[in-house]
Amino acid sequence: MKIDFANLQYQYKLYKDEIDEAIDEVLEKSNYIMGEEVAILENNLEKFTGAQYAITCSSGTDALLLAMMALDIQSGDEIITTPFTFIATAETIAFLGAKPVFADIDEKTYNIDPSKLEEKISSKTKAIIPVSLYGQPADMDVIQSIATKHNLKVIVDGAQSFGSTYKGKTDSNLGDISTTSFFPAKPLGCFGDGGAVFTNSEELATKMKSLRVHGQSKRYHHKYIGMGGRMDTLQCAIVNVKLKHYKKDLALRQEVAEKYTKVLKDKDIVLPFIDKNTTSVFAQYSIRVKERDKLQTKLKEKGIPTAVHYPMPLHLQECFEYLNYTKGDFPIAEQISQEIMSLPMNPYISDDEIAYITKVL
Ligand SMILES: Cc1ncc(COP(=O)(O)O)c(C=O)c1O
Repeated sequence: MKIDFANLQYQYKLYKDEIDEAIDEVLEKSNYIMGEEVAILENNLEKFTGAQYAITCSSGTDALLLAMMALDIQSGDEIITTPFTFIATAETIAFLGAKPVFADIDEKTYNIDPSKLEEKISSKTKAIIPVSLYGQPADMDVIQSIATKHNLKVIVDGAQSFGSTYKGKTDSNLGDISTTSFFPAKPLGCFGDGGAVFTNSEELATKMKSLRVHGQSKRYHHKYIGMGGRMDTLQCAIVNVKLKHYKKDLALRQEVAEKYTKVLKDKDIVLPFIDKNTTSVFAQYSIRVKERDKLQTKLKEKGIPTAVHYPMPLHLQECFEYLNYTKGDFPIAEQISQEIMSLPMNPYISDDEIAYITKVL
């Protein structure tokens, strides 16, 4: 058997007629930049998430930049985040001249551990960026109460978690600003790069809309130093189609996760832990195993692709050497990065495939 990790081709074939029609319509109109599909998607995203404002942008990375720029993050500011995430979370902090300050993660959820936050706060701290890793929000009430107490902003990096919930609210409603990514392999993906920011603040929404188009207030009048951060009309048209089917696809992802868990729960493997306050969209189904490299090789031989999210925590990355962290600073993130391994995850994995993957494993 040969298993597909994200099975994007299958999904395209499933919705081909609708997607092709949506693409054709954009091509016919040739309204490639800020065409009407952009506003339609933003409206649909607002309806889906319950967030008052959804603003599409060029990627999940640029969504983080827009959020920090809107909150006036400046050179010399400090932002606390997790070392166990994709590079973009901390890279964008550094890109703006601010300093990423890491706090270790929770051993069960792998999200930032709120009990480690306060010791990291200094007079320069401006914001906290929790990441909803693998699709599950962090312990947001605790994080928010620490932020409120110290007058800090919260940006939720929801690149992996569109549609997840925390205490019944979608994670696009958490923090001052929440972001997401429509990278193709994300639970809600487009056919290239795309992303969005969400907020319930009219002021921040207006500012981010302006920052996304070079900080302009009206054509050729520029209020802020902004960026070219728009999402293409074509990509918005594609996400509009996929969003219609997203609830169903999400339920299927969650079913796949349940099926994996049911078979693997008595084995010598640490399975995903989903906190009772949250739902996960299972961007990844990541397990912890011993002798990971050997296991990955064996699985590959049997046609089962796996991935590691992420093999090296950010405080040990070469690009962050200047922050002077060393091995041992964040022992939980370091240990998990040695053991974590993601199994094939998409809504369309069949029962036979799950049986095969778990048997070989
Ligand atoms: C946690 C996290 N943040 C940010 C990003 C960046 O998103 P994009 O690839 O759309 O720029 C990703 C994408 O992999 C991510 O996983």
